[in-house]
Amino acid sequence: MPKTKTLYICSACEHEQAKWMGMCPFCRQYNTLEEKVIRPEGVKPPRMGAVNTEDVFESPVLLSDIPTDIVADRKPTGVPELDRVLGGGLVPSSLLLLGGDPGIGKSTLLLQICRHMASDEFPILYVTGEESASQIKMRADRLGVNVPGCYLLAETDLHNIQAAVEEIQPSLLLIDSIQTMRLSELSSLPGSVTQVRECTAFFTYLAKQQSTAVLLVGHVTKEGSLAGPRVLEHMVDTVLYFEGEGKDAYRLIRAVKNRFGSTQEIGVFEMGEEGLTGIADPSAYMLAGRPIGVPGSVVTCSMEGTRPLLTEVQALVSYTNFGTPRRTANGMDYNRMVMLLAVLEKRAGYKLQTYDSYVNIAGGLRIDEPAADAGILAALASCYKNKAVDPYTMVMGEVGLAGELRAISQAERRVTEAARQGFKSCILPAANKGKLRAPAGMRVMGVAHIGELLGVLL
Ligand code: TYD
Ligand code: MG
Repeated sequence: MPKTKTLYICSACEHEQAKWMGMCPFCRQYNTLEEKVIRPEGVKPPRMGAVNTEDVFESPVLLSDIPTDIVADRKPTGVPELDRVLGGGLVPSSLLLLGGDPGIGKSTLLLQICRHMASDEFPILYVTGEESASQIKMRADRLGVNVPGCYLLAETDLHNIQAAVEEIQPSLLLIDSIQTMRLSELSSLPGSVTQVRECTAFFTYLAKQQSTAVLLVGHVTKEGSLAGPRVLEHMVDTVLYFEGEGKDAYRLIRAVKNRFGSTQEIGVFEMGEEGLTGIADPSAYMLAGRPIGVPGSVVTCSMEGTRPLLTEVQALVSYTNFGTPRRTANGMDYNRMVMLLAVLEKRAGYKLQTYDSYVNIAGGLRIDEPAADAGILAALASCYKNKAVDPYTMVMGEVGLAGELRAISQAERRVTEAARQGFKSCILPAANKGKLRAPAGMRVMGVAHIGELLGVLL
């Protein structure tokens, strides 16, 4: 069989070159030579995109004639918080990418998937390129993974993996991680752009050919994006990010891309002795241990998918010794914070030019929703005035540049969640108040301007 060869091609001038160089000898640009695989004639590259081999149609077909059963028979993973993010479960023959920082719990999650899903009818092959088989075994014992149909392979060479897949015919193939996998035809190191791209293409091909679902684990770089080329994200059906701040905090799984469902849902976990435990009531978890009666602490509500999530916003405003005040935003957009400070200055008369301001969304959550504006603004004002806001009042609303409070979406669900968590009153935009049916025992107040809001609160 003719062998696959590699060439280096300049991405700027398309000059071809047999060996890698730092500078293209033709156009003299740096770092433009990229390794390319040259396949002999008749060897086709793996086709990307389609879910199943059966759904490849030769000619155009009517949309209404295409069967939809592939997506319909999802298989629950047995980890409810993960199923929520996936949109119900694992789609057969699909390709998933799970990204996350080292130590966040990716390998743990894989084993927990094995514990719930593996059986003689649903064999799973776990390929590890990072740890030895006995290390995985030790963790599996600790997590109580003792099920039939769960195979382990410590290997990084794709051809050996392919042989194992053909022998075992797993329904699910777990790859931990894509950055350690290697196609022996390529001269570049595992984890390089070319290796990662070609290995993913190979797994796409394997997923379709063997009709097995593939879950790839990917590492995240210091900057927070998946290590390896962006193309990795284009090649797979679903991209999940596993994130969390610090060691003791909870962990979130978020879908960045999902060809089979929404990317709105999040799954919340806690890492403990028995591995990852799903948290069914994240609001209570987020609010646990918040300071009561301390200036600068305000509870607001953000929607995470279909779930309202109560979160504590903390602000600190202190006199600055320098000419330019420091501003730091943790868990929210920095520019949004600066805008809220400007509104507070201009529309409510707060003299913040000489104060350092810090905002922190407690629990390591990130809020990107304008509905949290009013809560953040109230926390800043509360700290500046050194007056605590009533701890059982929730504040929400979008703040406009004129200082007006604008309507937010799904106000009723948020208020209901606040009532469920024992909150007594809610302050929200006047425009939301009219249509709202408040739960029993909940006092709802509508305000139109931040002046009014701060007047009621402080
Ligand atoms: P791991 O799944 O190895 O992370 P990743 O594969 O993403 O790099 O596990 C991460 C951490 O979780 C590790 O530091 C140990 C901790 N851990 C627990 O606290 N409890 C457990 O039951 C397990 C299995 C791990
Ligand atoms: Mg790992």
